[in-house]
Amino acid sequence: MDTPWRLPGAVELRDGPVLLRRHVPEDAAGVLEQCRDPDTVRFTTVPHPYSPEHAQGFLRHVREQWAAGECAALAVELEGRFAGTLDLRRTAGGWAGIGYGLAPWARGRGAMTRAARSALAWGFDELGVRGVHWEAVVGNEASWRVARTCGFRREGEVRGLLVHRGERLDGWIGSLLPGELVRAPR
Ligand SMILES: CC(C)(COP(=O)(O)OP(=O)(O)OC[C@H]1O[C@@H](n2cnc3c(N)ncnc32)[C@H](O)[C@@H]1OP(=O)(O)O)[C@@H](O)C(=O)NCCC(=O)NCCS
Repeated sequence: MDTPWRLPGAVELRDGPVLLRRHVPEDAAGVLEQCRDPDTVRFTTVPHPYSPEHAQGFLRHVREQWAAGECAALAVELEGRFAGTLDLRRTAGGWAGIGYGLAPWARGRGAMTRAARSALAWGFDELGVRGVHWEAVVGNEASWRVARTCGFRREGEVRGLLVHRGERLDGWIGSLLPGELVRAPR
């Protein structure tokens, strides 16, 4: 049950203008742009300030974690341009955690909602994931809306749930089981 995932060499999941695929070295500039955005700094644990070396290190880490079967991080392309990353991280007991972020130019167009639905369907159907946890800093409405549209249940607000650059922040937590994924637009 707790063996690493056997992740395929290549993955392409498309939904309209959104394509999920493995990262390539050319994504470094897009990663840098995304991780220097103030909302990304506020709501995620990216290093701050973020340097080109951080982007290279991230892409290296993504490749290593994929090979190890520990984390399926997928690049999100919108209209053919790198827009961000979504990852499914393996956790104990056949479950996973989900994380996502987009560069500001790509937000507010439903791109992450499409990406998350595709990735979750792939995780449940192809990787055999039994359930997924979602966590976000309290007040991250955009993240919650994506999760809610996919079918996540928000089950709690936990004091000090998230460690954020050395500080504990209150977090929302939610979960999704395979039969609950909303696969088509409501
Ligand atoms: C979270 C994030 C990936 C959402 O991506 P997105 O493609 O903009 O999401 P969508 O366009 O699919 O919008 C999802 C919903 O959030 C709403 N929304 C977008 N920005 C919002 C904001 N700042 N406040 C409230 N609602 C917002 C949209 O209107 C939409 O609502 P609907 O589903 O009711 O129509 C993006 O905002 C982001 O990268 N934020 C910074 C990083 C981050 O917070 N990552 C998540 C960490 S848990």
